[in-house]
Amino acid sequence: MKHFAKLARSASSSLFFHRSLLRCLFMNSPKLTAQQSFKYDDLVITKSTEQRELPDASNLVFGKTFSDHMLQIEWTQSNGWGKPEITPLHDFQMHPGAKVLHYGQAVFEGMKAYRRSDSKIALFRPELNARRLLSSSERASLPSFDCEELLKCIKKLVSIDSKWVPGDDDCSLYIRPTMIGTEGALGVCAGQTALLFIITCPVGPYFKKGLTKAVTLLADPAYTRACPGGAGCYKFAANYAPTLYVQKLAQDQGLDQVLWLYGQNHQICEAGAMNVFFFLKKAVGKPELITPPLDGTILPGVTRQSILDLTREWGEFEVSERAITMSELIALNEEKRVLEMFVCGTAVILCPVKMIRYLDKDINLPTVDMKNPLHVRLLKALSDIQYGRVQSEWSVPVD
Ligand SMILES: Cc1ncc(COP(=O)(O)O)c(C=O)c1O
Repeated sequence: MKHFAKLARSASSSLFFHRSLLRCLFMNSPKLTAQQSFKYDDLVITKSTEQRELPDASNLVFGKTFSDHMLQIEWTQSNGWGKPEITPLHDFQMHPGAKVLHYGQAVFEGMKAYRRSDSKIALFRPELNARRLLSSSERASLPSFDCEELLKCIKKLVSIDSKWVPGDDDCSLYIRPTMIGTEGALGVCAGQTALLFIITCPVGPYFKKGLTKAVTLLADPAYTRACPGGAGCYKFAANYAPTLYVQKLAQDQGLDQVLWLYGQNHQICEAGAMNVFFFLKKAVGKPELITPPLDGTILPGVTRQSILDLTREWGEFEVSERAITMSELIALNEEKRVLEMFVCGTAVILCPVKMIRYLDKDINLPTVDMKNPLHVRLLKALSDIQYGRVQSEWSVPVD
């Protein structure tokens, strides 16, 4: 009987694990009927009459300057999706009881439009962001939509605001699709109304003067970002508020970001709002590039996926999605088998890590001392695609 209970427990937890993994992976979105999705063909456009100027790229602070227009689409339980509208950027009016304000019912995406060397404006693997927004919305009990219709709307918004896509080196237009529960009702349950909106911001280079700065991380096992069965693998707005306090703790110690750990054995998850990679020397054979697996605690980053896809295509070293703990990392580093550690995400693209502070000890990593380091090669490979210096189907023109 005991044995049976154990078997049942393990079967249900592995089923759960399997289901959450499937949700997190980049699945093809199901085709929705016309009533279940808004349609690009219904788009209504009202252009801004104001003529604002794009500020100098060197004065752009991430997320503080917004372009002229935004897109919004309302949803109600009774009527489904309304017409997509592109309008001048404006404030919202909202009931003070809106679900988003009390229960954090909000999901979002972060993606970029780049001005390519052929002067076309292009998005980078935008279908992955659209599918991730859909999977986040479903998990947050927000309405579904057709990813292709969303992408057509995003492309139109970007092409209308094309003057806001900076042409300077390492600059881009950051795109923030967001969906929120708007019903003014305090019951803790899925609401009857929602709003999908998209705002965009011209952004400068993450690091000034083109210098990629190696970052330092605080790994404090007292805090965790996500746990199996939770919502860490979705882009819920509510995942980010609790990280602000820990980020402040890191900054108070003069460190750049938080390295998120999980569990008794201090498994390494992510860094700040970025995925992590380790490039390791093996006892025998080719080196190995590893990143933590999509076990429900990790956000399935588009940059992470692109690094995995590129390096698997190169076929020069082993590429693994597997767990790594702090004690393993320390042991490998002491054996001089850690070659590089780097973090990646849409905002920063890719950034080397030089030190981790863990249990009051500083673990220095040799990342920036490597000759011809992998992270530099990867950063170039990704940005060559994003800025159209190399042709790739990952770069998707907006018109
Ligand atoms: C928690 C977290 N991890 C990783 C990433 C990197 O994902 P991406 O490469 O899609 O930007 C992000 C950013 O979206 C994030 O918020």
